[in-house]
Amino acid sequence: MKPLRIALTKGRLEKDTVALFEELGYNCDAVRNKGRRLILPIDNGEIEVVLAKAADVITYVEHGVCDLGVVGKDTILENGTGFFELLDLGFGRCKFALAGKKGADFFGGYNVKTIATKYPNVARTFFEKKGMDIHCIKIEGSVELAPLLGLSDAIVDIVETGSTLKENGLEVFEDIVPISARLIANNASLKLRKREIEEIVDKMYQAIKER
Ligand code: PRP
Repeated sequence: MKPLRIALTKGRLEKDTVALFEELGYNCDAVRNKGRRLILPIDNGEIEVVLAKAADVITYVEHGVCDLGVVGKDTILENGTGFFELLDLGFGRCKFALAGKKGADFFGGYNVKTIATKYPNVARTFFEKKGMDIHCIKIEGSVELAPLLGLSDAIVDIVETGSTLKENGLEVFEDIVPISARLIANNASLKLRKREIEEIVDKMYQAIKER
């Protein structure tokens, strides 16, 4: 039987997921000593871990080359829904927020506001719900620079500890939505490998519940 493939978002979510697998009794030595390898066996090769960037985790799961994936709700909200969301894993907690220069009257005036963000879909949905017309500029990282440089009136971005905003003279104008890591599954895999997936999901669910 082919190993069950799970795509992990490289970095912090990968580490938190490996810790969870180890708590469930899976041997993750190969992942811990991975070097530059990107596909690694866990637990005698019954499960295979694939290390990918967040948006690519969704692509691999949607296309069915990975059965499961661990990815942040931020990436899910931005990148579509052609898969099944199985579990809130409870780690990787942060939030989407609208933020800008401290003391700025963002909601005042009638001019169309410019929003800088790495997450244009999230930003557009947020302002559509408010019935507010905006101009959106896509930024690839350190989005906080945009209002500081005068490119935008505000940003839609991830806030975790709030230090990046604080240290740059910015503040949250409004919270948008809480974020955490999610376990996702390919729709066909859920049917074809139901038993194996259920087994692992049940174990994860129990461990998370007890945390
Ligand atoms: C994220 C986010 C903020 C920062 C928030 O950026 O875009 O910049 O973390 O964290 P804090 O509230 O704890 O300060 P990341 O470090 O992922 O890098 P990026 O800006 O290049 O996307």
